Amino acid sequence: MQKERNRRIAPRAAALAFGLALAASAQAAPDIKALADKNGCFSCHGMQGKLVGPGFAEVAAKYKGDGEAAGKLARKIQEGGKGVWGRIPMPPHPSLKDEEAKQLAAWVLEAG
Ligand code: HEC
Repeated sequence: MQKERNRRIAPRAAALAFGLALAASAQAAPDIKALADKNGCFSCHGMQGKLVGPGFAEVAAKYKGDGEAAGKLARKIQEGGKGVWGRIPMPPHPSLKDEEAKQLAAWVLEAG
């Protein structure tokens, strides 16, 4: 049944799925945490204080109210970068799908 519906509304389904994924990211914290764990985020980031990189709560506080932060951070998680928090760079994570990077960014921004 699901498949049949998807065929008929395929173009809209993609947009809807994206919206749902964003909406779901708030509730899906345990899954996202597992995703972060799997990708080694916690070897450099704590939830609160600085390790190698900033604590996720610090990141959330910094970008509070910045409507563009989610997209910016998703790109940075995928591509890596430096100079915002100090001189140590974050390595790129090219194996993350766009969707996963967006979910991780949204999750980090809610960590404050
Ligand atoms: C090898 C260590 C390392 C790993 C692994 C790592 N990070 Fe980072 N991360 C850093 C460092 C260092 C910075 C600060 C970069 C800067 O100053 O611009 C950073 C910055 C960030 C920022 C803030 C970016 C900004 O521009 O303010 C976010 C969000 C982030 N990391 C998320 C993640 C996520 C999610 C993962 C896992 C997919 C991850 N990091 C894995 C080291 C790491």
